Amino acid sequence: MNDKLNKNSIIRLFNVSKRFGGTLALKNISLDIERGEFIFISGPSGAGKSTLLKILYRAEKVFEGQVLIDGMNLSRISSSKLPVLRRRFGIVFQDFKLIPTLTVYENVALVLEAAGKKTSFIKKKVMQVLRTTGMGKKAKALPLTLSGGEQQRVAVARAVVGEPSIILADEPTASLDSRAAQAILDFLMEYHKKGTTILIASHNLHLLENKIQGRTIEINDGKII
Ligand SMILES: Nc1ncnc2c1ncn2[C@@H]1O[C@H](COP(=O)(O)OP(=O)(O)OP(=O)(O)O)[C@@H](O)[C@H]1O
Ligand SMILES: [Mg+2]
Repeated sequence: MNDKLNKNSIIRLFNVSKRFGGTLALKNISLDIERGEFIFISGPSGAGKSTLLKILYRAEKVFEGQVLIDGMNLSRISSSKLPVLRRRFGIVFQDFKLIPTLTVYENVALVLEAAGKKTSFIKKKVMQVLRTTGMGKKAKALPLTLSGGEQQRVAVARAVVGEPSIILADEPTASLDSRAAQAILDFLMEYHKKGTTILIASHNLHLLENKIQGRTIEINDGKII
């Protein structure tokens, strides 16, 4: 394994399979993603796109094979080291996962508070990111008073605010019209230009693909095609 190790790889999968009961959601996936790549993961509903993202930040454990993130082997990582792993990731969840009792501002600020940033820095940074995602005016709103597309933009803001080295975005434009979708992609593109590794999972790629250069990984029935 080591002889093939590419120094620029930030994500490596070796023969990874994932089983949920009787369902093999991922079948023998091998993958090598370089630092700073912009990757689209495409494939139909149920193909395994979300599962693939989930094994990267160890929300799910693999059934077989190995996952290396920045050289860390996830099958050997102890639960005390999980926060260290997860700090590398900014994640846009398919179902957003905003905290309903916190305002838009507080949901996004939480990331920076957990990282121990100063209040003055947090205020400036959170408002800047909310403004660029078009959510500046909704900073005081509670998530459930927002439209689906607005919640999605807050989820994107939260994923990027900590300037993680890897952004995983699961259907980040599913609730947006084509113009708002393009704006979110352009926004993510800015982070790509700064060197962030970005993985976007989407079953609706035709909207996005022609506008942005990136590598597309197509999965179907748990396999890379
Ligand atoms: N927690 C779970 N328990 C049981 N089966 C699961 C679980 N999570 C995913 N699966 C199954 O694994 C397969 C892949 O699911 P996954 O969510 O990765 O698909 P997807 O490509 O993200 O689909 P979509 O485009 O609809 O989001 C599906 O057959 C799904 O039913
Ligand atoms: Mg999914």
